[in-house]
Amino acid sequence: MNNAQQTISLSANPMNGDGRLKIAIQKSGRLSEKSVNLLEKAGISLLKSRDQLLCRAHNFPLDVFLVRDDDIPAFLTTNVCQVGIIGQNTLLEKQALFPEKYADLEQVQNLGFGRCRLSIATPTGFDYSSVETLAGKTIATSYRGLLAKFLAEKNVIADIVTMEGAVEVAPRTHLADAICDLVSTGNTLVSNGLMEQEAILESQAVMIKTDQMADDLSAIYHKLMSRIRAVLRADNSRYIMLNSPIEALDAIKAVLPGSASPTVMPLQGRDDMVAVHAVCDEEVFWTTMEDLQNTGASSILIMPIEKMLD
Ligand code: PRP
Ligand code: ZN
Repeated sequence: MNNAQQTISLSANPMNGDGRLKIAIQKSGRLSEKSVNLLEKAGISLLKSRDQLLCRAHNFPLDVFLVRDDDIPAFLTTNVCQVGIIGQNTLLEKQALFPEKYADLEQVQNLGFGRCRLSIATPTGFDYSSVETLAGKTIATSYRGLLAKFLAEKNVIADIVTMEGAVEVAPRTHLADAICDLVSTGNTLVSNGLMEQEAILESQAVMIKTDQMADDLSAIYHKLMSRIRAVLRADNSRYIMLNSPIEALDAIKAVLPGSASPTVMPLQGRDDMVAVHAVCDEEVFWTTMEDLQNTGASSILIMPIEKMLD
């Protein structure tokens, strides 16, 4: 059974009105593990078997559909699922190819993982100066929609060859002069003698939702998003503790990265020093710690935050 058939039979299934929110995530691939981790960090515990299409949360009214990332938009537009975790590259490609069908899918939250870019790359011998260099050339890609849109915006006419995978071998086999593919570490390009020339899209994993959600599901959705946003904030935040001479307090507060109002407490036996505790909503770099030290801070501790709810 292919996924299209699954979609039809599942949407006809009365269990869709069972008061449980349905989320579609990638079954295997670059986003799948981190998508599951995010749900688990949000306190949602999934039953272990992940080789099936459906995975139920037993402590939250959520069912998780494990599908091909390419199929996630269709799971939402057919209302089999109401939310999904998908790469922006995949979503935007679908929206570029089928604008009417997928226009109503809304990106509600960037998730900060699965970062990559969609780039044009050429063989090392290719004399590339700007996108105009590609006029009249052949470009292989799995992202015809996004590439065609980009070329049209630049008024460049080129031939696009659609390939499902192994796009990086197209120039070597003379199927194309250039490629347009996802780049993450850049290793694939290097090992195929290709040079990245132009990023046409920056992408990361994103939470999407349909614009049709029954009220009971909407309430679950808001609870889920509140937890997910709390997880994302905690991931990006640090708890910082340090000791400060009283007269350096204002200068130290000014150096603390992204922290609104630190807690200042007396230090036993010291009337010239205080302890400062703060939540910083940014990464704390070594250089920041050195700045704090130079401003008079001592015993500086930076700790990860596990959970945070406002
Ligand atoms: C993507 C892309 C490149 C590779 C880039 O393929 O098509 O092949 O990742 O990553 P890198 O810059 O870290 O080397 P993916 O692994 O998603 O598989 P696919 O091409 O088979 O879909
Ligand atoms: Zn690839």
